[in-house]
Amino acid sequence: MFNFDYRNPTHIVFGKERIAEIDKLIPPQARVLVLYGGGSVKKFGTFEAVKQALGTRQQFEFGGIEANPRYETLMRAAALAKAENIDFLLAVGGGSVMDGTKFVALATHFAGDAATLLWNGTAAVDSSKILPLATVATLPATGSEMNAFAVVSHPKGKFGITHAQCYPQFSVLDPSLTFTLPKIQVANGVVDAFVHVCEQYVTYAAEAKVQDRFAEGLLQTLIEVGPITVAQPQDYDARANLVWAATNALNGLIGTGVPQDWATHMIGHELTARFGIDHAQTLAIVMPSLWQVSREQKHGKLLQYAERVWNITTGNDAERIDAAIAKTREFFESLGIKTRLRDYDVAKADIDDIISALEAHRMVKLGEHQAITPAVSRQILEQAW
Ligand code: NZQ
Ligand code: ZN
Repeated sequence: MFNFDYRNPTHIVFGKERIAEIDKLIPPQARVLVLYGGGSVKKFGTFEAVKQALGTRQQFEFGGIEANPRYETLMRAAALAKAENIDFLLAVGGGSVMDGTKFVALATHFAGDAATLLWNGTAAVDSSKILPLATVATLPATGSEMNAFAVVSHPKGKFGITHAQCYPQFSVLDPSLTFTLPKIQVANGVVDAFVHVCEQYVTYAAEAKVQDRFAEGLLQTLIEVGPITVAQPQDYDARANLVWAATNALNGLIGTGVPQDWATHMIGHELTARFGIDHAQTLAIVMPSLWQVSREQKHGKLLQYAERVWNITTGNDAERIDAAIAKTREFFESLGIKTRLRDYDVAKADIDDIISALEAHRMVKLGEHQAITPAVSRQILEQAW
């Protein structure tokens, strides 16, 4: 196991009808900016419940944060936060709203050009000027409710950033707030969480038994509850297990002390930026093909995954690995998520654009061995077509 530091400061407020407790978690004198997306939270009553919980505090709102939140939109929110002297940000929505709010927290009082944080990292931010934030999560998928990452879309591409102060102070996770999600978003959530686990688990052995078995437990949970919660959105227990699995898939715990991959995500981000394909769908396209191409490097872990997650115990090594990859693809497809690039109206010739974008973003040595060069990414995408 590698050396590691682990600290996760986010207070999770999990369960039914917990929104009212926000009142106890935000300073009474705070000037609060509530950020949300395209309107689902207004339509389904979550926004109103938050407003009630905030009571007599000074409240401001910023709506219209789009899926794959855009830099320009977030800078408008940051301008509002600055003009109104906001001292607490409350994200109400899915990963895009939570991520966007983290960027607003960093950008509001940043003295320089905030766009540079996207490509230079966040070291230049004065940490005494970062706004505190919290979330009411309405979509189980990204883990943003309990991690310090944010992904922001800019005309130059889709960029991931992080800062220790981007952990939400608290996150309200009420599974029933997610009942209103369209089926496709629930399926996206299952796949995103599944791939988050795999990016930290299907790499190479590091004698990290706790992390491995946590990861396997999360994958088995997603395989068990995923189809139920897509088919029966009102089944509280199935949804509660999806919510908690998705949070644990990317809150840092299973990634401690182990090698991590993330090549599927980096290639996937380029597919979203270029073709607008939903985040999780890009992952379902890339990962099975990446495993085929990297099967030698991932040999041991793919066999472990085959046996412990899918109970594949017969056949030689190559057959077991083939079966595990096929099972993974079938699982995604069974949820209604297509796994081929051609299913999303992408032409084979368009792969050139993705390779150029990876090069432009210096994504030229990806994966746990930094072995995924643009030539390998091309192979992965061609096989994914
Ligand atoms: O905008 P509204 O109207 O709220 O509708 C949203 C949006 O259209 C809707 N929705 C959310 N909650 C709902 C609901 N509809 C009905 N009922 C509800 N309860 O769902 C749609 C998608 O929302 P979005 O927030 O975009 O989805 P998701 O949570 O999948 O977030 C995707 C973003 O997160 C980033 C992705 O790159 C992408 O930009 N990621 C963030 C990560 C992180 N912070 O750690 C890691 C991930 O790998 C990922 O990259
Ligand atoms: Zn993801």
